[in-house]
Amino acid sequence: MCGIIARIGHGNAAEPLLSGLENLEYRGYDSAGIAVQNGSGVKVHKCSGEVSRLKSKLDSQPHGNMGIGHTRWSTHGPPTDENAHPHTDTAGDVAVVHNGVIDNYEELKTSLRAEGHEFESDTDTEVIPHLIDEYRAETGDTERAVRRAVDVLEGSYAIAAIVDGEEAVYAARKGSPLVLGLDDDEWYLASDVPAFLERTEDVIYLEDGDLVVLDPDAYRITDLDGNPVERAVDTVDWDPEDAGKGEYDHYMRKEIHTQPTALANTIEGRIEDGDVAFEDLPAGSFEDVECVQFVACGTSYHAAMYGGQLVREAGIRTEVLRASEYESTSGPVDENTLAVAVTQSGETADTLDAVRTAADRGARTLAVTNVVGSTAAREADDAVYIRAGPEVGVAATKTYSSQAVTLAMLSQRIAGDVPTATAADDRAAMLEALADLPQQVETVLETSEAEPLAADTIDSESFFFIGNGPAHSVALEGALKFKEITYEHAEGFAAGELKHGPLALVTGKTPVFAVATGDADGKTKTNAIEAKSRGAPIVAVGPDDHPLVDIADAHLSVPDTHPVWTGLLANVQLQLLSYHAATQLDRPIDKPRNLAKSVTVE
Ligand code: AGP
Repeated sequence: MCGIIARIGHGNAAEPLLSGLENLEYRGYDSAGIAVQNGSGVKVHKCSGEVSRLKSKLDSQPHGNMGIGHTRWSTHGPPTDENAHPHTDTAGDVAVVHNGVIDNYEELKTSLRAEGHEFESDTDTEVIPHLIDEYRAETGDTERAVRRAVDVLEGSYAIAAIVDGEEAVYAARKGSPLVLGLDDDEWYLASDVPAFLERTEDVIYLEDGDLVVLDPDAYRITDLDGNPVERAVDTVDWDPEDAGKGEYDHYMRKEIHTQPTALANTIEGRIEDGDVAFEDLPAGSFEDVECVQFVACGTSYHAAMYGGQLVREAGIRTEVLRASEYESTSGPVDENTLAVAVTQSGETADTLDAVRTAADRGARTLAVTNVVGSTAAREADDAVYIRAGPEVGVAATKTYSSQAVTLAMLSQRIAGDVPTATAADDRAAMLEALADLPQQVETVLETSEAEPLAADTIDSESFFFIGNGPAHSVALEGALKFKEITYEHAEGFAAGELKHGPLALVTGKTPVFAVATGDADGKTKTNAIEAKSRGAPIVAVGPDDHPLVDIADAHLSVPDTHPVWTGLLANVQLQLLSYHAATQLDRPIDKPRNLAKSVTVE
């Protein structure tokens, strides 16, 4: 939540700051701001609304070779001009942007007020520039002042600061992501790589406790005691074009349509001689595993359900847990427990908290993530990357598909290693069929009837999604996507649950989307018939020859494949349905209200 950026170099900073903020807007978009420093003071420009509003309010390009920027997802205080970042000290000499939550801001504010500091916002962040100002006055040294300021902060932060009259950017992190981008003649700091991917692919992923000082010609990283710290430079293998919308109207549409490429990358080099091979996790890596716990939120949870079922079918004790409920739902954990954090961003606070708890209880941890250098990847004992490329739309699409395929492959790797596990009879056929999945997704994209179906059903009162077995998680994901971007009421159920309550809501104005994979979906047809008897239009989502199609009023078709992969093709149809319904309702597809892509608060 919230995106921060900083830039220092020899040219003008405003343009890269503003374009970087646009690429970070997936992290929050209820207000935006920049501050630049040009030798005649720190100039702050900020307002509620999106980056486009900020740009339209700027009379001319602010001038200065260094600056900071922020796009906000409100935690403390509503999205107003005053609460937008950057925040400054009373004199306006120190400007700060912040991603995170300062838990002790009220007591800090009280003591700063007693020293004469005046505050203008409701935010927790505003204490930071005042603290830096206070300690600068005491020490006469900004770097020491920043160090002292972060030392008294409780909570999480990635901050960047500029100070009037200084050719420097100061930054620090604890519990919130911060990455340093290294170009030939300019340096960047940002919450995530897409902020500067068009300018450089060379990055340093900063660690908690790192403090960075940038000047136009050099960067310096120290710990909080001022001791120099060495951090490796990584080269990001994301294509700069991935950070833009390309020919598409929305990132979500682009990300739906680039799933064949994303899936091909996910699979590439990982199926060898009918077996699964993960880099850094060779055969035998999981032979001590007795229980697998998946922890995840939202869409990642649905992908975890998909993969978890395959581990369970191999006879291995499996729990798929909502990360926010981990404390109260986890079974016993020991050193033979593998806790798998499934998280696209690798920064979701609930998921990080759950996997840390699992580690504290003795579990081995594995991150399945899209983001190299993310907190989950760095903290877990091992990491497997889903290789989907950057996803900007708040609604997760291609990363769900890549997560589900990665987890399905992981399930086979684990099942192959655990001595007591039973391999699926048709394991070889399943893995062989995976090679055709990217092309089959392409077929769905080219032939989908989701757009006219969305037009036909958009006036409905509620939208229900049902499925059994692997299709259950697809139904849940279909409903989540639908409500997230259309703002219409949508719910997903295990098909058999419909008659235990939700059926009371079913009328002629509540279409039921019945997902079928051809595996364990016996109850889906009978429950769809029960809904049809109450007048509900039924939409079958599955293969052409599935018995459900015979009783349905409409059909979203998917190509024949191994039943393990059918649900992923059905999900692509449901992604398109949500997208077209939301487009017809004129919703802000990539930035649904109240949401942010990376949820870094609990
Ligand atoms: C899905 O469309 C959502 N944006 C959301 O449910 C998301 O999947 C969830 O917040 C988890 O995010 P993560 O994968 O980055 O941990």
